[in-house]
Amino acid sequence: RRKGAIFDLDGVITDTAKYHYLAWKRLASELGLYFDEKINERLKGIGRLESLEIILEENGQNFSHQEKEYYANRKNQYYVEMIKNITPKDILPGVTNLIATLKAWGVKLAVASASKNAPTVLKNLRIIEWFDHVVDAGRIKKGKPDPEIFLVAAQNIGVKPWECVGFEDSAAGIEALKRAGMLAVGIGDKEALKDADLVVKDLTFITPILELFF
Ligand code: BG6
Ligand code: MG
Repeated sequence: RRKGAIFDLDGVITDTAKYHYLAWKRLASELGLYFDEKINERLKGIGRLESLEIILEENGQNFSHQEKEYYANRKNQYYVEMIKNITPKDILPGVTNLIATLKAWGVKLAVASASKNAPTVLKNLRIIEWFDHVVDAGRIKKGKPDPEIFLVAAQNIGVKPWECVGFEDSAAGIEALKRAGMLAVGIGDKEALKDADLVVKDLTFITPILELFF
């Protein structure tokens, strides 16, 4: 029986994945760098500086560490501006119902997001109090696809990794969940998330399926 549920934030609970994309797109065009949805797929779940490194690599470019910090910070300023007006209306379909159901089943809940902006987004959505634990991205040494963030989440809600189900929209996140020994539910495209145990388009109508696991 599963006793814990761990949620990614961006692209799972709310559609901030699109704002990360738009912020990178703006930075890339300012720098004359090529950037498209396909490159963006590689950035999902990946930290800020590493994301910029992937864009640079795709363009056959390399910046100094100082330049990378400077431009990653600029991208973040664009992103912060975009998430300023997020409200509970921006919670994705099915999420509220799923969380209420899991709570009624006595399942422990955590958020495991690579984003340093996660606390702000959760506050704007007014759902931070739904979770028993929110992992502090700043304290994680190895980002997704390393399993560390999910293992830390499980530990903090007092549940063994194999008793957890994880919800992810990124390939890096699905890999991290599998390496952590968790059941991985992918949200999005079957092709992009082929290593997931189960892929759904969104979280509406997921509870009857989850009844099999919890
Ligand atoms: C992840 C996003 O949740 O957080 C990535 O999927 C993002 O796109 C990463 O780069 C880090 O976010 P932030 O807000 O700390 O730059
Ligand atoms: Mg995500």
